Amino acid sequence: MTDRPQPRLHRRTIAGIATIGVGLPVLAACSGSDGSELATDPDTPSPSSTPTASGSAEARPSESADESTGGADALAQTSDIEVGGGTIFPEDQVVITQPSDGEFKCFSAVCTHQGCIVSSVSDRTINCECHGSAFSIVDGSVVTGPATAPLGAQPITVDGAAITLG
Ligand code: FES
Repeated sequence: MTDRPQPRLHRRTIAGIATIGVGLPVLAACSGSDGSELATDPDTPSPSSTPTASGSAEARPSESADESTGGADALAQTSDIEVGGGTIFPEDQVVITQPSDGEFKCFSAVCTHQGCIVSSVSDRTINCECHGSAFSIVDGSVVTGPATAPLGAQPITVDGAAITLG
């Protein structure tokens, strides 16, 4: 007589364990989904949302340059470009250099090796971190490969302190 309830309890226990076993992965999946939503929340800053080129001290978005110049067409002010250095404008895909005081040059920021946007300007070269190519700030020529072709010159106009493309 006492043997009959025990099998029933045993079956219920097994059924309960099975239910918990099925339910746990579902709960785990739900919590994973919630975590993803938090990570993509537009109000939450994400370290991966930073553009690659903006990690460089020289890289600047053109919007801030427009704000600093106060002109809608100006890409930068002459004071934004370090003498003997340069500034990369990733959104416009150009780099402006100042090889000597008052001499401004502009080149394509698209590396001629495999098309990365150049990442920094230092020691009088424009550098691409993808594979290590370096180009002269004077004429865009290759200083260090693997690139074999120079950065293309781009026309700019310097009007007072404002630098504009074209
Ligand atoms: Fe620039 Fe390769 S894409 S070095």
